[in-house]
Amino acid sequence: MTPAAVLCGIGSCLPARRVGNDELAGVLDTSDEWIRSRTGIGGRHWADPDTATSDLAVGAGRRALASCAPEDRPGVDAVVVATTTPDRSCPATAPLVAARLGLGPVAAYDVAAVCTGFVYALASASGLIAAGIAERVLVIGADTFSSILDPADRTTSVIFGDGAGAVVLRAGHPDEPGALGAFDLGSDGDGYDLITVRGGGSEQHLSAAAPEPGRAYFTMDGKAVFRHAVERMSRSSRTVLDRAGWELSGLDWMVGHQANRRILDRLADDLGVPRERSVGNIAEVGNTSAASIPLALDDARGAGLLKPGDRVLLTAFGGGLTWGSATLTWPGPDRFVS
Ligand code: UT7
Repeated sequence: MTPAAVLCGIGSCLPARRVGNDELAGVLDTSDEWIRSRTGIGGRHWADPDTATSDLAVGAGRRALASCAPEDRPGVDAVVVATTTPDRSCPATAPLVAARLGLGPVAAYDVAAVCTGFVYALASASGLIAAGIAERVLVIGADTFSSILDPADRTTSVIFGDGAGAVVLRAGHPDEPGALGAFDLGSDGDGYDLITVRGGGSEQHLSAAAPEPGRAYFTMDGKAVFRHAVERMSRSSRTVLDRAGWELSGLDWMVGHQANRRILDRLADDLGVPRERSVGNIAEVGNTSAASIPLALDDARGAGLLKPGDRVLLTAFGGGLTWGSATLTWPGPDRFVS
């Protein structure tokens, strides 16, 4: 039997500083009313300048490891960090996170798929487990988008927040609660420019001769992205449910990428999933990119929403363009100690 990846630990970490809509309305031409009604966001957390993505990733990873039941606690064999805002463009952030968590000489690498990153990282980790390369993998989605936002751009500054979420996966049985089931992953590079940071890579060097700091900022064509997000997550959700042999009507929870409450509502309506079954925390944390799904999952667990054996659909969309979905049954009650 090919082993399945089974969720056995979860944790999250937010920077302390909360930035409310009114604070942004004090410096940008926007309002609490506009932000709430167009996005569903009431506030977000932003890291202070000396907090890096690895700091948030280590916080989430430590909590996820501590949440594992004693029998699931022996060390992990690999660390996968999904991020668009690594501490440095070279090397990857994951080896630093593994070292700071005291995990020893484990495999450690980053995955770059913007807001879809966590689902891609889950798929990658599941592959390591299915192939027998790893028994336990720590998967972290972590982003510090505040470090790449243009402070003068009201269309992006109001949306994004910082944070990290992590899960521990172990090798197990496909039929046991906690098992990840089917995956669907995709991309469309024709939409490469819709969500981007143009400068700082090999295409447009940021050099002393051409400093232009604006080129290092994140930009997004919100309207086009909105339409793609609903279409792609809807199609990917149907595909993954089909692969898992699950009916939409048998779904207990949908955890979609927390990009915009209106996108999540539109997606739920399109799939015929009751909106109250689409869980999330966008009102409190905004769009935290790769951290969004594990943060929302951890919040739903903290709120006691997820019951053992519940059928959960994860679906995400982001820059690339990329999208991805996965099915998960929620683990048994004895799996987490904290
Ligand atoms: O995480 C990766 C995936 N990302 C997403 O899925 C994000 C998808 N896009 C969105 O969530 C939405 O498109 C936004 C929230 C970014 C924008 O909402 P929208 O309803 O699409 O607004 P819009 O871009 O059509 O702009 C409507 C109006 C414009 O003014 P005019 O041209 O009608 O006079 C904008 O200039 O709202 C204006 N506007 C704002 N007004 C106040 C744009 N941003 C703001 C703002 N405050 N922050």
